Formats: sequence, C-alpha cells, structure tokens
Amino acid sequence: MERKNLDWGNLGFGYVQTDMRYVSNFKNGQWDDGCLTDQASITINECACVLQYAQTCFEGLKAYTTEDGHIVCFRPDLNAQRMASSCRRLKMPVFPEERFVQAVVETVRANSQWVPPYGSGATLYVRPFMFGSDSIIGVKPANEYQFRVFVTPVGPYFKGGVKPLKLRISDLDRAAPKGTGDVKAGLNYAMSLYNIVDAHEKGYDENVYVDSATRTHIEETGGANIIFVTKDGKLVTPQSSTILPSITRRSLLYVAKEYLGLEVEERPVALSEIDEFVECGLCGTAAVISPVGTIVDHGREIHYAGMGPTIQKLYDTLTGIQMGRLEAPEGWIQVIE
Ligand code: PLP
Ligand code: COI
Repeated sequence: MERKNLDWGNLGFGYVQTDMRYVSNFKNGQWDDGCLTDQASITINECACVLQYAQTCFEGLKAYTTEDGHIVCFRPDLNAQRMASSCRRLKMPVFPEERFVQAVVETVRANSQWVPPYGSGATLYVRPFMFGSDSIIGVKPANEYQFRVFVTPVGPYFKGGVKPLKLRISDLDRAAPKGTGDVKAGLNYAMSLYNIVDAHEKGYDENVYVDSATRTHIEETGGANIIFVTKDGKLVTPQSSTILPSITRRSLLYVAKEYLGLEVEERPVALSEIDEFVECGLCGTAAVISPVGTIVDHGREIHYAGMGPTIQKLYDTLTGIQMGRLEAPEGWIQVIE
C-alpha cells in the first residue's frame, strides 16, 4: 500500500479532505443500506432541522498504524454506544451499533493511504456524525436524517506539542443540570465557541468548566475530561452527570488500576481542593493525555508538574496499547487490516 505523500510529523489538528466517506440516509422510518462515496459536500434544504435547530450529534475516535504495521482503531463499540445515547437524547434515530462499527471500519479501510505511519506522531481522526436533514420550521425533530463518517489525518490537538497547558476556570457554563452535557451534541460545542476564542485571546489554552448549579466543583474542559494525581500517586477524576463520559478517561481508569497498580477515584472534585493535586492532565481522543502546567482560578494560580511521572506512565501505557506495543485488554482493539 502506497501512503499519501504528507509531512506526517508536522500535521496540526485540521481537516484534510480524504478520498472516501460513508453515508447512510434515514427516510420513511428506516436506514438505507449505506455506501462509501467520494462526495465530500452535502446539499440540504435551507430549512433542514440541523440548520435551524442544531439537531446534530457526533463522535470522535482514531485509527493507528501499529508497530507491526496493522491498521487498528480503539474501542469503536463505545463510540457507537455513546452516539446511540446522544441520538436518544436529541430524538434522532439510532444508527445500529454494529453498523456504526462496520461503517468506521469500511471508511478507514477505504482511506488506508491516509493513515499516518507508526512513530510519526500523527493519527487518523475518525468523525462519525448525524443530522436532521429534512425541512422543519415548527420546533420538532426531523423526519429524515443522514449519518456520515469521514476521516482526516491529524497531529496534536493543542498547538505547542508537549508544552504544559495553561487553563482558566471559566465564568461561563457548558452544561446545565439535566441538560445535554453528557452527550456529544453539536450544540454543546456551538455555545463554547465564544468562550474558547476569549480564552485564546487572553493567553489560555482551554476553559475549565465548573458545575453550573453551585460553581463549586470541577467538570471538564470544552473538548476533554480532566484527570488529577495526588501527592501519593492516586488518580482522581471528577464524577458528574453533566460531563461527557470520555472513552479515554474510562480506559485510563482501567489502565491505572490494572496495568499500573494505581489507586483510582472517580468522585466529585471541589474547586477548593485542586491545589492539593500534583499533576493534572486533559484526556480525550483528540487530546490523548495533554499535561496541564497551570490552572488560573481568577486571582489564584495553581501549578502542576506538567508531564509528571504518573501522567507520563499513563500516557505511555495508553498509547502503547493503542499502537500495539502493549497487549490490550480483550475487545479494545479493532483490527482493520
Ligand atoms: N469531553 C468533551 C467535551 C469532549 O468533546 C471529548 C472528546 O470527545 C471528551 C471529553 C473526551 O472523550 P473521548 O475520550 O471519548 O474522546
Ligand atoms: C474528540 O476528542 O474526539 C473530540 O471530539 C474533541 C473535539 C474538541 C475535537
């Protein structure tokens, strides 16, 4: 297989149009057979539900070239499950979970020339998504939907590579109690755009959201969950019904316990206790594990070790599993070719 001629080591996190994508349409109460297409553009009516009422959700996962030259992806079944839960919350039809995994596999396989080589630092980001496609003017769910999967080769999510991140505690909220914070709805990201632009203008890499009901507990950032490490090496991560259940975070909790023998705690994390932790990181598909150097809580600045020893071990173990250097738990790796 001949790879595309890209500067793999210097890719940012951006969209590069690749050859093929998967499309399936929902009409008259059922999904069609779906197919691969080279058509990257979509034509929809001006009144499509997605355009008027933001009826859309998405997923994100990655495909990797392993050390021994296979192409694999990481736990796509969990993305299928989470998308099903997003769809139920947004009154969209679920794309069957086995078909979701199959669509991911077919799309990656059809673009195998775009999968970055092992060791390049780049990966193939896979973006499944769905939207209400027919015209709706009264506020109600669409009748017709489109499910798509495209892929794009990406480098690190945060500019500056391994430089520890500087975050701020946000004054704006991401998710209301009983809102949509725990699903991957496009609307959660639309409302974060003002805040991320403002954060960047003021020299921060990301916003840390606190719970909007009491503003006393840490939730997550705009695009990743948060992990902390205590002085005695325990992994702590916030528990809340309004954060996105990150597949990376759930995998890290398992890896920490079962591979590294660490103690793990998933529990509410008070804003007032974050200066007691020694390491902090953001975790997610795009973020992988990005070390945090500083959190600014208005006047208060809290400093962390950046890529400290525990976060480094978690990073090495997780990416070791993803890239085939370490044996994966049963069912975590989907071999594509
Ligand atoms: N939290 C938010 C708001 C996200 O957008 C993401 C990215 O998907 C995550 C957390 C991390 O989730 P995952 O590890 O499943 O990619
Ligand atoms: C992901 O990590 O897959 C996401 O969807 C996060 C997004 C901010 C790129």
